[in-house]
Amino acid sequence: MDYDIKDVGLADKGENRIEWASTNMPVVLSIRERFRKERPLKGIKVSCCLHVTTETANLVITLKEGGAEVYLCASNPLSTQDDVSAALVKNHGIPVFAINGEDRDIYYSHIRSVLNVEPHITVDDGADLVSTVHKEMRGLAGKIVGGTEETTTGVVRLKSMANKGELLYPIIAVNDAQTKHLFDNRYGTGQSTIDGILRATNTLIAGSTFVVCGYGWCGKGLAMRAKGMGARVIICEVDPIKAIEAVLDGYLVMPFVEAAKVGDIFVTVTGDIRVIHKGGFEVMKDNALVANAGHFDVEIDLKALEEMAKGKRTVRDGVTQFLLEDGRRINLLGEGRLVNLSCAEGHPSMVMDMSFANQALCIEYLALLRERLENKVYPVPEEIDREIARLKLITMGVTIDELTEEQKEYLRSWEIGT
Ligand code: ADE
Repeated sequence: MDYDIKDVGLADKGENRIEWASTNMPVVLSIRERFRKERPLKGIKVSCCLHVTTETANLVITLKEGGAEVYLCASNPLSTQDDVSAALVKNHGIPVFAINGEDRDIYYSHIRSVLNVEPHITVDDGADLVSTVHKEMRGLAGKIVGGTEETTTGVVRLKSMANKGELLYPIIAVNDAQTKHLFDNRYGTGQSTIDGILRATNTLIAGSTFVVCGYGWCGKGLAMRAKGMGARVIICEVDPIKAIEAVLDGYLVMPFVEAAKVGDIFVTVTGDIRVIHKGGFEVMKDNALVANAGHFDVEIDLKALEEMAKGKRTVRDGVTQFLLEDGRRINLLGEGRLVNLSCAEGHPSMVMDMSFANQALCIEYLALLRERLENKVYPVPEEIDREIARLKLITMGVTIDELTEEQKEYLRSWEIGT
């Protein structure tokens, strides 16, 4: 079996951690149980480009139990958990191409490795598989039945390709399922971003001024958690509607350059480029902490920071301190890559359970399709979304009310008024 990982000797540690995560992924486990019996993915090659974590391991093991031939590479050079890769290779026979800290060339050579197998289905977190197919391996697209996309940034890129008529195969936007973004993006990013900041710095959030750039689902979750830990939270936004929402949620809202003067901790989570920029670095307080929780490492203008600095050094694992000409220090976390995955372990298994249940069921949906879909970005079928919510509630021991026949009829009718 061909693979490229750091050290297969780490497998025992990885296996224990994968099992630990599985105890909080009951919905994925129930799908695994059914897949084991029904084998709906028999004969299907699935190439995945995902963060190589314990939760991803539980997804790919589930796909394999469903009969798929699964291949895995990393969706970020710093998020790979090397012990997880080792366990997947050694104990589960799943070829993994991912090494924590890999450089750009190796990162892309790993992407090519999982595409060279000529998959029927691609699974992306950030659209790097799809974009590599489109840039370098266009011949593969005709054989690919479809793909899935895990994250907001990937969906934005794919919708733009589809709108320009450039998308060569259909994609299901897993990110847009309610059982994905309402929980993973909000509660997952909220907690794991704070987790990354704390593991890297051990800073006190209470009493700090915490600046969140972007008030989408991820930004909302992060602001909520920072506020809950006693920070004064400032939101920077460009969308007037989201800005009003932030004001009414009780946050201060101001332009980034104003927030830059007073913030202690800065996190950008917008999906856009150069959000934390030179104008901000020029006015930040000494010892400010700066982190990115967006998919790509483009949100912090690292080039500007490098140019402004007269020196830099690693002060703790995951913290690079830049010394500016005037003596101020700016601390960059996780090299400007996703702080929750580079400095911590990503979202907790409990929320990834729903995200990856969506992945597993959408992959099954693509595998069982009778006709080829058009080359568009599709939503997750509503039955899948609702079924995951139903299953999750059962596993949480929560029961809910049902509409009576009379209530259903009332909702269908229009005659009854004042
Ligand atoms: N994205 C965010 N957190 C994650 C995790 N724990 N596993 C895989 N992908 C993730």
